[in-house]
Amino acid sequence: MVFLTKIIVFCMFATGPGILTHKSLVNKDQSHSKKVDDCQRCKVLTDSFKKWLEETSRGKHEGGDAAWEEAKLKSYARSEMRLVEIQENLCSELKRHQDECYALSEEAETLLEQWWFHEHQTSLDLYTWLCIENLQHCCSMNHYGELCIPCPHKVNNKICNGNGKCNGDGTRKGDGKCICKKGFTGTSCDECAANFYNASEECKPCHRACDGCHGEGEQSCMKCAKGWSKEFDTCIDDNECSDLSICKSNEYCINKIGSYDCKLCDKTCKTCDGPGPSSCTSCFSNQVLWQHLKKQE
Ligand SMILES: *[C@@H]1O[C@H](CO)[C@@H](O)[C@H](O)[C@H]1NC(C)=O
Repeated sequence: MVFLTKIIVFCMFATGPGILTHKSLVNKDQSHSKKVDDCQRCKVLTDSFKKWLEETSRGKHEGGDAAWEEAKLKSYARSEMRLVEIQENLCSELKRHQDECYALSEEAETLLEQWWFHEHQTSLDLYTWLCIENLQHCCSMNHYGELCIPCPHKVNNKICNGNGKCNGDGTRKGDGKCICKKGFTGTSCDECAANFYNASEECKPCHRACDGCHGEGEQSCMKCAKGWSKEFDTCIDDNECSDLSICKSNEYCINKIGSYDCKLCDKTCKTCDGPGPSSCTSCFSNQVLWQHLKKQE
């Protein structure tokens, strides 16, 4: 009896199961890291220099004549010995961009020495002196491009209205145009982007039922999004599956919020109203659907 029920609910099949083919998953090489530009490279180098400057700042002399120690430390502070120590370690701590750091440290060796022995007394930090003024790879903050022009598009005294950044800021690249944060648009990022609405300080996303809106929720839509229809001033999800011909004949329909899916019937079914072999609504010509017994399962 159990045996009978089990067989009867399915479309009976003469052929065996199909051969499953496995798509080979090719792992794409993800090891290549993004190339850094010259300004970033210089920042990496000067950050590393700063780190080793701190590491070599010697609090470790213990005991002995305090005054003598102090004098010794003072002479060590800008000594060639300390510079050599820094240079020996420079870039060694880096996990990313290390090769670029080493390359630049070689290129800039003479400049680094010059700064160490002659320039450090001026108030300029190494980054400003090396990256901005000498190598000219970077600009100071809020400046961009080859000539380090001030970023335009200020609103309320804030660059890009405080809602974006100036393209190329701090580098010798870019065009100074605003790159707005998500939700903002306009040359100065002072407007809400499409499908966002102005909630005083912020631009918030419209409800998914909307194609443009003037406020929160599905009742504030200007138009309804695809898959939604206006009903009593609000947008309601369409049930696409009520159109019985929306999927192909060997598929069944699943309504989703804002859309729908067509899924293939089980391969034993000709047509179906759901997943699996027990949802067949008709069979292929040489098979029989035992629909009247379906409910017994
Ligand atoms: C939002 O509205 C306020 C008040 O009308 C206005 O001052 C502000 O500029 C608007 N913001 C955006 C991003 O449109």
